[in-house]
Amino acid sequence: MKILLLGNGGREHALAWKMAQSPLCSKLYFAPGNAGTAEYGENVAIDPEDNSAIYELVLDRSIDMVVVGPEAPLVNGVWNYLKRLRSTSHVPVIGPSMQGAKLEGSKAYAKRFMQEFGIPTAGYREFNTSKAAAAIRFINKKAVPPIVLKADGLAAGKGVVICPDKEEALRELQEMLSGKFGQASRKVVIEEFLSGIEFSVFALTDGRDYKILPVAKDYKRVGEGDTGPNTGGMGAVSPPPFVDEKLMQKVEDRIIRPTILGLQKRGIEYQGFLFFGLIKVGDDPFVIEYNCRLGDPETEVVLPRVKNDLVELFLAVKDRRLAEMKIIADERTATTIMLVSGGYPGSYEKGKVITGIENVKDSMVFHAGTTSAGGKILTNGGRVIAVTSLGRTFQDALVISNKNATAIEFEGKYFRKDIGFDL
Ligand code: AMP
Ligand code: GLY
Repeated sequence: MKILLLGNGGREHALAWKMAQSPLCSKLYFAPGNAGTAEYGENVAIDPEDNSAIYELVLDRSIDMVVVGPEAPLVNGVWNYLKRLRSTSHVPVIGPSMQGAKLEGSKAYAKRFMQEFGIPTAGYREFNTSKAAAAIRFINKKAVPPIVLKADGLAAGKGVVICPDKEEALRELQEMLSGKFGQASRKVVIEEFLSGIEFSVFALTDGRDYKILPVAKDYKRVGEGDTGPNTGGMGAVSPPPFVDEKLMQKVEDRIIRPTILGLQKRGIEYQGFLFFGLIKVGDDPFVIEYNCRLGDPETEVVLPRVKNDLVELFLAVKDRRLAEMKIIADERTATTIMLVSGGYPGSYEKGKVITGIENVKDSMVFHAGTTSAGGKILTNGGRVIAVTSLGRTFQDALVISNKNATAIEFEGKYFRKDIGFDL
Protein backbone atom coordinates (compact mmCIF):
# COMPACT_ATOMS: atom_id res chain seq x y z
CA MET A 1 0.00 0.00 0.00
CA LYS A 2 1.06 3.53 -0.73
CA ILE A 3 0.32 5.74 2.23
CA LEU A 4 0.29 9.52 2.44
CA LEU A 5 0.85 11.04 5.87
CA LEU A 6 -0.04 14.69 6.47
CA GLY A 7 2.03 16.78 8.88
CA ASN A 8 5.64 17.60 9.71
CA GLY A 9 6.22 17.16 13.45
CA GLY A 10 7.64 14.61 15.87
CA ARG A 11 4.32 12.81 15.90
CA GLU A 12 4.54 12.36 12.14
CA HIS A 13 8.13 11.10 12.29
CA ALA A 14 7.03 8.55 14.90
CA LEU A 15 4.05 7.52 12.75
CA ALA A 16 6.38 7.19 9.75
CA TRP A 17 8.85 5.08 11.72
CA LYS A 18 6.02 2.80 12.87
CA MET A 19 4.21 2.48 9.53
CA ALA A 20 7.48 1.81 7.69
CA GLN A 21 7.87 -1.36 9.79
CA SER A 22 4.68 -2.81 8.31
CA PRO A 23 5.00 -5.34 5.48
CA LEU A 24 1.68 -3.90 4.24
CA CYS A 25 3.31 -0.56 3.51
CA SER A 26 5.14 -0.38 0.17
CA LYS A 27 5.75 3.36 -0.04
CA LEU A 28 5.29 6.38 2.20
CA TYR A 29 4.69 9.98 1.16
CA PHE A 30 4.70 12.95 3.49
CA ALA A 31 3.09 16.33 3.03
CA PRO A 32 5.23 18.14 3.85
CA GLY A 33 7.30 15.96 6.26
CA ASN A 34 10.67 16.86 7.77
CA ALA A 35 14.28 15.69 7.66
CA GLY A 36 13.31 12.67 9.78
CA THR A 37 10.39 11.47 7.68
CA ALA A 38 12.56 11.76 4.55
CA GLU A 39 14.40 8.64 5.72
CA TYR A 40 11.21 6.62 5.28
CA GLY A 41 9.82 7.93 2.03
CA GLU A 42 9.25 10.98 -0.07
CA ASN A 43 8.55 14.44 1.29
CA VAL A 44 6.27 16.43 -0.98
CA ALA A 45 6.27 20.18 -0.43
CA ILE A 46 2.54 20.82 -0.22
CA ASP A 47 0.50 22.49 2.47
CA PRO A 48 -1.50 19.87 4.43
CA GLU A 49 -4.34 22.40 4.64
CA ASP A 50 -4.58 22.71 0.86
CA ASN A 51 -7.32 20.16 0.15
CA SER A 52 -7.12 20.39 -3.62
CA ALA A 53 -3.33 19.91 -3.60
CA ILE A 54 -3.77 16.80 -1.44
CA TYR A 55 -6.47 15.53 -3.78
CA GLU A 56 -4.13 15.97 -6.77
CA LEU A 57 -1.32 14.20 -4.94
CA VAL A 58 -3.55 11.24 -4.02
CA LEU A 59 -4.52 10.82 -7.68
CA ASP A 60 -1.07 11.49 -9.08
CA ARG A 61 0.72 8.94 -6.87
CA SER A 62 -2.18 6.44 -6.66
CA ILE A 63 -2.28 6.73 -2.87
CA ASP A 64 -4.15 3.89 -1.14
CA MET A 65 -4.59 5.50 2.27
CA VAL A 66 -4.29 8.96 3.82
CA VAL A 67 -3.26 9.26 7.46
CA VAL A 68 -3.72 12.68 9.06
CA GLY A 69 -1.31 13.70 11.83
CA PRO A 70 -2.32 17.22 12.97
CA GLU A 71 -5.75 18.71 13.66
CA ALA A 72 -5.72 21.60 11.21
CA PRO A 73 -6.31 19.56 8.01
CA LEU A 74 -9.12 17.66 9.78
CA VAL A 75 -10.84 20.80 11.03
CA ASN A 76 -10.29 22.12 7.51
CA GLY A 77 -12.28 19.20 6.09
CA VAL A 78 -9.74 17.06 4.25
CA TRP A 79 -11.88 13.98 4.95
CA ASN A 80 -14.99 15.57 3.47
CA TYR A 81 -13.08 16.88 0.46
CA LEU A 82 -11.63 13.49 -0.49
CA LYS A 83 -14.87 11.62 0.21
CA ARG A 84 -16.96 14.02 -1.86
CA LEU A 85 -14.99 13.55 -5.06
CA ARG A 86 -15.62 10.35 -6.97
CA SER A 87 -12.04 9.57 -7.86
CA THR A 88 -10.91 9.65 -4.21
CA SER A 89 -14.07 8.64 -2.31
CA HIS A 90 -12.79 5.06 -1.96
CA VAL A 91 -9.47 6.12 -0.37
CA PRO A 92 -9.56 5.52 3.39
CA VAL A 93 -8.69 8.54 5.50
CA ILE A 94 -7.46 7.85 9.03
CA GLY A 95 -8.91 10.85 10.81
CA PRO A 96 -12.46 12.10 11.35
CA SER A 97 -14.78 14.13 9.16
CA MET A 98 -14.93 17.87 9.70
CA GLN A 99 -17.98 17.28 11.94
CA GLY A 100 -15.97 14.88 14.13
CA ALA A 101 -12.99 17.24 14.22
CA LYS A 102 -15.27 19.86 15.78
CA LEU A 103 -14.69 18.10 19.09
CA GLU A 104 -11.28 19.78 18.93
CA GLY A 105 -12.09 22.70 16.64
CA SER A 106 -14.74 24.21 18.89
CA LYS A 107 -14.49 24.10 22.68
CA ALA A 108 -18.14 25.19 23.03
CA TYR A 109 -19.23 22.35 20.73
CA ALA A 110 -17.18 19.85 22.75
CA LYS A 111 -18.68 21.13 26.02
CA ARG A 112 -22.23 20.81 24.68
CA PHE A 113 -21.44 17.32 23.43
CA MET A 114 -20.14 16.25 26.85
CA GLN A 115 -23.13 17.77 28.59
CA GLU A 116 -25.55 15.97 26.27
CA PHE A 117 -23.93 12.59 26.83
CA GLY A 118 -23.24 12.98 30.55
CA ILE A 119 -19.44 12.93 30.20
CA PRO A 120 -17.66 14.37 33.27
CA THR A 121 -16.03 17.73 32.60
CA ALA A 122 -15.71 21.13 34.30
CA GLY A 123 -18.86 23.27 34.53
CA TYR A 124 -18.92 26.06 31.93
CA ARG A 125 -20.73 28.89 30.18
CA GLU A 126 -20.16 30.13 26.63
CA PHE A 127 -20.37 33.73 25.42
CA ASN A 128 -19.82 35.35 22.04
CA THR A 129 -19.01 38.97 21.21
CA SER A 130 -22.69 39.98 21.29
CA LYS A 131 -22.97 38.60 24.85
CA ALA A 132 -19.98 40.46 26.30
CA ALA A 133 -22.08 42.20 28.97
CA ALA A 134 -23.49 38.87 30.16
CA ALA A 135 -19.95 37.43 30.28
CA ILE A 136 -18.77 40.34 32.44
CA ARG A 137 -21.73 39.85 34.78
CA PHE A 138 -21.00 36.15 34.99
CA ILE A 139 -17.36 36.76 35.94
CA ASN A 140 -18.29 39.40 38.52
CA LYS A 141 -21.18 37.55 40.13
CA LYS A 142 -20.73 33.81 39.63
CA ALA A 143 -17.23 32.74 38.65
CA VAL A 144 -14.87 31.53 41.37
CA PRO A 145 -11.13 32.16 40.77
CA PRO A 146 -8.96 30.79 39.35
CA ILE A 147 -11.09 31.34 36.24
CA VAL A 148 -10.39 29.38 33.07
CA LEU A 149 -10.97 31.25 29.80
CA LYS A 150 -10.83 29.37 26.51
CA ALA A 151 -10.96 30.69 22.99
CA ASP A 152 -13.59 28.59 21.24
CA GLY A 153 -11.58 27.84 18.10
CA LEU A 154 -8.07 26.59 17.29
CA ALA A 155 -5.39 28.94 18.64
CA ALA A 156 -2.19 26.92 18.19
CA GLY A 157 -2.33 25.65 21.78
CA LYS A 158 -2.36 29.18 23.21
CA GLY A 159 -6.12 29.67 23.55
CA VAL A 160 -6.46 28.66 27.22
CA VAL A 161 -5.73 31.25 29.90
CA ILE A 162 -6.03 30.55 33.61
CA CYS A 163 -6.74 33.80 35.45
CA PRO A 164 -5.89 34.02 39.17
CA ASP A 165 -8.51 36.71 39.90
CA LYS A 166 -11.58 38.43 38.46
CA GLU A 167 -9.68 41.54 37.32
CA GLU A 168 -7.40 39.50 35.10
CA ALA A 169 -10.32 37.39 33.86
CA LEU A 170 -12.17 40.56 32.83
CA ARG A 171 -9.08 41.90 31.07
CA GLU A 172 -8.48 38.61 29.27
CA LEU A 173 -12.16 38.31 28.31
CA GLN A 174 -12.05 41.77 26.76
CA GLU A 175 -8.92 40.88 24.75
CA MET A 176 -10.26 37.54 23.59
CA LEU A 177 -13.65 38.86 22.49
CA SER A 178 -11.98 41.68 20.61
CA GLY A 179 -10.00 39.17 18.59
CA LYS A 180 -6.77 38.34 20.46
CA PHE A 181 -6.86 34.96 18.71
CA GLY A 182 -8.71 36.22 15.64
CA GLN A 183 -11.99 34.52 14.83
CA ALA A 184 -11.10 31.71 17.28
CA SER A 185 -11.75 33.90 20.32
CA ARG A 186 -14.90 35.71 19.13
CA LYS A 187 -16.57 33.06 21.24
CA VAL A 188 -15.22 32.25 24.69
CA VAL A 189 -15.84 29.37 27.08
CA ILE A 190 -15.55 30.25 30.78
CA GLU A 191 -14.86 27.17 32.80
CA GLU A 192 -14.60 25.97 36.36
CA PHE A 193 -11.00 25.29 37.41
CA LEU A 194 -10.21 21.64 38.13
CA SER A 195 -7.33 20.71 40.37
CA GLY A 196 -5.53 17.42 39.85
CA ILE A 197 -2.96 15.58 37.76
CA GLU A 198 -3.33 15.41 33.98
CA PHE A 199 -2.88 12.49 31.62
CA SER A 200 -3.56 11.69 27.98
CA VAL A 201 -5.58 8.73 26.74
CA PHE A 202 -5.77 7.78 23.06
CA ALA A 203 -8.35 5.61 21.36
CA LEU A 204 -8.46 4.43 17.79
CA THR A 205 -12.02 4.02 16.53
CA ASP A 206 -13.54 2.57 13.38
CA GLY A 207 -16.77 4.43 14.07
CA ARG A 208 -18.30 1.43 15.81
CA ASP A 209 -15.69 -0.06 18.14
CA TYR A 210 -12.54 1.34 19.66
CA LYS A 211 -9.19 0.24 21.03
CA ILE A 212 -7.37 2.07 23.79
CA LEU A 213 -3.67 2.74 23.26
CA PRO A 214 -1.03 3.02 25.99
CA VAL A 215 -1.61 5.98 28.33
CA ALA A 216 0.81 8.90 28.54
CA LYS A 217 1.51 12.10 30.40
CA ASP A 218 3.00 15.13 28.74
CA TYR A 219 4.80 18.13 30.20
CA LYS A 220 3.39 21.29 28.66
CA ARG A 221 5.17 24.09 30.49
CA VAL A 222 8.50 25.30 29.19
CA GLY A 223 10.20 25.59 32.60
CA GLU A 224 11.36 23.03 35.11
CA GLY A 225 8.90 22.28 37.90
CA ASP A 226 6.05 22.97 35.43
CA THR A 227 6.63 26.72 35.36
CA GLY A 228 6.53 29.35 32.62
CA PRO A 229 4.36 29.50 29.50
CA ASN A 230 2.61 26.59 27.83
CA THR A 231 4.27 24.90 24.87
CA GLY A 232 3.25 22.17 22.46
CA GLY A 233 4.89 19.75 24.92
CA MET A 234 8.41 19.43 26.38
CA GLY A 235 8.46 15.73 27.15
CA ALA A 236 6.30 12.71 27.91
CA VAL A 237 6.17 9.46 29.85
CA SER A 238 4.20 6.28 29.06
CA PRO A 239 2.72 4.83 31.18
CA PRO A 240 2.39 7.37 33.99
CA PRO A 241 2.51 5.21 37.15
CA PHE A 242 -0.49 6.88 38.83
CA VAL A 243 -2.90 5.67 36.14
CA ASP A 244 -4.02 2.28 37.42
CA GLU A 245 -6.56 -0.22 36.16
CA LYS A 246 -9.31 1.14 38.37
CA LEU A 247 -8.90 4.64 37.02
CA MET A 248 -8.76 3.35 33.43
CA GLN A 249 -11.99 1.43 33.95
CA LYS A 250 -13.68 4.70 34.97
CA VAL A 251 -12.14 6.44 31.95
CA GLU A 252 -13.52 3.80 29.63
CA ASP A 253 -16.98 3.57 31.23
CA ARG A 254 -17.59 7.26 31.86
CA ILE A 255 -15.67 8.91 29.05
CA ILE A 256 -14.49 6.78 26.12
CA ARG A 257 -17.56 4.60 25.54
CA PRO A 258 -20.08 7.46 25.95
CA THR A 259 -18.03 9.59 23.55
CA ILE A 260 -17.98 6.92 20.82
CA LEU A 261 -21.70 6.28 21.36
CA GLY A 262 -22.37 10.02 21.26
CA LEU A 263 -20.63 10.31 17.90
CA GLN A 264 -22.75 7.43 16.59
CA LYS A 265 -25.96 8.93 17.95
CA ARG A 266 -25.19 12.17 16.19
CA GLY A 267 -24.36 10.31 12.97
CA ILE A 268 -20.83 11.70 12.85
CA GLU A 269 -18.30 9.90 10.65
CA TYR A 270 -15.27 9.17 12.77
CA GLN A 271 -12.59 6.67 11.81
CA GLY A 272 -9.37 7.70 13.42
CA PHE A 273 -7.70 8.69 16.66
CA LEU A 274 -9.46 10.37 19.55
CA PHE A 275 -7.33 12.03 22.20
CA PHE A 276 -8.83 12.51 25.65
CA GLY A 277 -6.99 15.17 27.64
CA LEU A 278 -7.95 14.12 31.16
CA ILE A 279 -7.43 15.23 34.72
CA LYS A 280 -7.66 13.03 37.80
CA VAL A 281 -9.54 14.92 40.50
CA GLY A 282 -9.51 12.86 43.69
CA ASP A 283 -10.09 9.37 42.28
CA ASP A 284 -12.18 10.44 39.30
CA PRO A 285 -11.34 11.35 35.71
CA PHE A 286 -12.67 14.51 34.01
CA VAL A 287 -12.23 15.68 30.43
CA ILE A 288 -10.15 18.83 30.01
CA GLU A 289 -10.30 18.65 26.23
CA TYR A 290 -10.84 16.44 23.23
CA ASN A 291 -8.43 16.34 20.33
CA CYS A 292 -9.19 14.64 17.02
CA ARG A 293 -5.67 13.24 16.54
CA LEU A 294 -2.74 11.81 18.42
CA GLY A 295 -0.80 14.03 20.84
CA ASP A 296 2.66 15.38 20.31
CA PRO A 297 5.00 14.48 22.07
CA GLU A 298 2.79 11.70 23.50
CA THR A 299 2.95 9.80 20.19
CA GLU A 300 6.71 9.59 20.57
CA VAL A 301 6.22 7.49 23.73
CA VAL A 302 2.96 5.74 22.86
CA LEU A 303 3.89 4.24 19.47
CA PRO A 304 7.24 2.80 20.64
CA ARG A 305 5.17 0.79 23.15
CA VAL A 306 2.63 -0.51 20.64
CA LYS A 307 3.74 -3.89 19.33
CA ASN A 308 1.00 -4.19 16.72
CA ASP A 309 1.41 -3.55 13.02
CA LEU A 310 -0.04 -0.03 12.81
CA VAL A 311 -1.04 -0.35 9.16
CA GLU A 312 -2.93 -3.53 9.97
CA LEU A 313 -4.81 -1.58 12.64
CA PHE A 314 -5.59 1.15 10.09
CA LEU A 315 -6.95 -1.45 7.67
CA ALA A 316 -9.15 -2.81 10.46
CA VAL A 317 -10.41 0.75 11.01
CA LYS A 318 -11.25 1.06 7.32
CA ASP A 319 -13.13 -2.28 7.29
CA ARG A 320 -14.73 -1.71 10.70
CA ARG A 321 -13.05 -4.83 12.05
CA LEU A 322 -11.37 -3.18 15.01
CA ALA A 323 -13.35 -5.38 17.43
CA GLU A 324 -11.25 -8.33 16.21
CA MET A 325 -7.96 -6.65 17.07
CA LYS A 326 -6.07 -6.59 20.34
CA ILE A 327 -3.54 -3.91 21.25
CA ILE A 328 -0.32 -5.42 22.52
CA ALA A 329 1.73 -3.03 24.64
CA ASP A 330 5.39 -3.25 25.57
CA GLU A 331 5.61 -3.59 29.36
CA ARG A 332 8.54 -1.20 29.53
CA THR A 333 8.22 2.54 30.14
CA ALA A 334 8.98 5.02 27.37
CA THR A 335 10.12 8.58 28.00
CA THR A 336 10.80 11.37 25.59
CA ILE A 337 12.61 14.67 26.03
CA MET A 338 12.02 17.49 23.58
CA LEU A 339 14.96 19.59 22.45
CA VAL A 340 13.71 23.07 21.61
CA SER A 341 15.10 26.25 20.06
CA GLY A 342 16.29 29.00 22.40
CA GLY A 343 13.42 31.44 23.03
CA TYR A 344 10.62 28.93 22.34
CA PRO A 345 7.61 29.22 22.88
CA GLY A 346 8.35 32.89 22.19
CA SER A 347 10.34 33.95 19.14
CA TYR A 348 13.34 31.85 18.13
CA GLU A 349 15.77 31.47 15.25
CA LYS A 350 15.74 28.70 12.68
CA GLY A 351 18.44 27.22 10.46
CA LYS A 352 20.91 26.12 13.18
CA VAL A 353 23.05 23.10 12.27
CA ILE A 354 22.22 20.00 14.32
CA THR A 355 25.07 17.62 15.13
CA GLY A 356 25.54 14.44 17.12
CA ILE A 357 22.42 12.54 16.05
CA GLU A 358 24.58 9.81 14.52
CA ASN A 359 26.17 9.12 17.92
CA VAL A 360 22.84 8.21 19.52
CA LYS A 361 22.59 4.42 19.70
CA ASP A 362 20.24 3.62 22.56
CA SER A 363 17.43 6.16 21.98
CA MET A 364 15.05 6.82 19.13
CA VAL A 365 15.50 10.27 17.65
CA PHE A 366 12.27 11.74 16.27
CA HIS A 367 12.56 14.93 14.28
CA ALA A 368 9.97 17.55 15.21
CA GLY A 369 11.12 20.76 13.52
CA THR A 370 13.97 20.01 11.15
CA THR A 371 14.87 20.37 7.52
CA SER A 372 17.89 19.34 5.48
CA ALA A 373 20.07 21.42 3.23
CA GLY A 374 23.48 20.75 1.70
CA GLY A 375 23.81 17.42 3.50
CA LYS A 376 23.22 19.03 6.90
CA ILE A 377 20.24 18.80 9.22
CA LEU A 378 18.99 22.21 10.34
CA THR A 379 16.54 23.39 12.97
CA ASN A 380 13.24 24.48 11.44
CA GLY A 381 10.85 25.03 14.33
CA GLY A 382 10.45 25.66 18.04
CA ARG A 383 10.34 22.02 18.99
CA VAL A 384 13.26 20.44 17.16
CA ILE A 385 13.91 16.83 18.21
CA ALA A 386 12.30 14.34 20.59
CA VAL A 387 14.66 11.83 22.21
CA THR A 388 12.75 8.67 23.18
CA SER A 389 14.09 5.82 25.31
CA LEU A 390 12.67 2.63 26.76
CA GLY A 391 13.53 1.37 30.23
CA ARG A 392 12.36 -1.00 32.92
CA THR A 393 11.22 2.03 34.92
CA PHE A 394 10.63 5.64 33.86
CA GLN A 395 13.73 6.63 35.82
CA ASP A 396 15.86 4.16 33.81
CA ALA A 397 14.44 5.43 30.54
CA LEU A 398 14.99 9.06 31.53
CA VAL A 399 18.68 8.50 32.25
CA ILE A 400 19.14 7.38 28.63
CA SER A 401 16.99 10.17 27.16
CA ASN A 402 18.86 12.78 29.22
CA LYS A 403 22.25 11.45 28.14
CA ASN A 404 21.30 11.59 24.47
CA ALA A 405 19.55 14.96 24.80
CA THR A 406 22.93 16.24 25.93
CA ALA A 407 24.78 14.51 23.07
CA ILE A 408 22.76 16.18 20.31
CA GLU A 409 23.84 19.78 19.75
CA PHE A 410 22.62 22.93 18.08
CA GLU A 411 23.02 26.60 18.92
CA GLY A 412 20.47 27.74 21.51
CA LYS A 413 19.33 24.20 22.38
CA TYR A 414 17.20 23.93 25.52
CA PHE A 415 15.47 21.00 27.18
CA ARG A 416 13.84 20.24 30.50
CA LYS A 417 15.98 18.05 32.71
CA ASP A 418 13.12 17.25 35.09
CA ILE A 419 10.63 15.32 32.96
CA GLY A 420 8.83 12.88 35.29
CA PHE A 421 9.70 14.95 38.37
CA ASP A 422 6.17 14.71 39.74
CA LEU A 423 5.63 10.97 39.27
P1 AMP B 1 -5.91 22.84 26.47
O1 AMP B 1 -5.34 23.78 25.45
O2 AMP B 1 -7.40 22.71 26.45
O3 AMP B 1 -5.16 21.55 26.52
O4 AMP B 1 -5.59 23.49 27.87
C1 AMP B 1 -4.28 23.77 28.22
C2 AMP B 1 -4.05 23.48 29.65
O5 AMP B 1 -4.84 24.33 30.47
C3 AMP B 1 -4.46 22.08 30.07
O6 AMP B 1 -3.49 21.14 29.78
C4 AMP B 1 -4.64 22.28 31.54
O7 AMP B 1 -3.39 22.24 32.21
C5 AMP B 1 -5.18 23.66 31.65
N1 AMP B 1 -6.65 23.63 31.79
C6 AMP B 1 -7.58 23.68 30.82
N2 AMP B 1 -8.82 23.62 31.33
C7 AMP B 1 -8.69 23.54 32.66
C8 AMP B 1 -9.61 23.46 33.76
N3 AMP B 1 -10.93 23.46 33.58
N4 AMP B 1 -9.09 23.37 35.01
C9 AMP B 1 -7.76 23.37 35.21
N5 AMP B 1 -6.86 23.46 34.24
C10 AMP B 1 -7.29 23.54 32.97
N1 GLY C 1 0.72 17.26 23.79
C1 GLY C 1 -0.56 17.83 23.69
C2 GLY C 1 -1.09 17.92 22.35
O1 GLY C 1 -0.66 17.28 21.42
O2 GLY C 1 -2.05 18.67 22.17
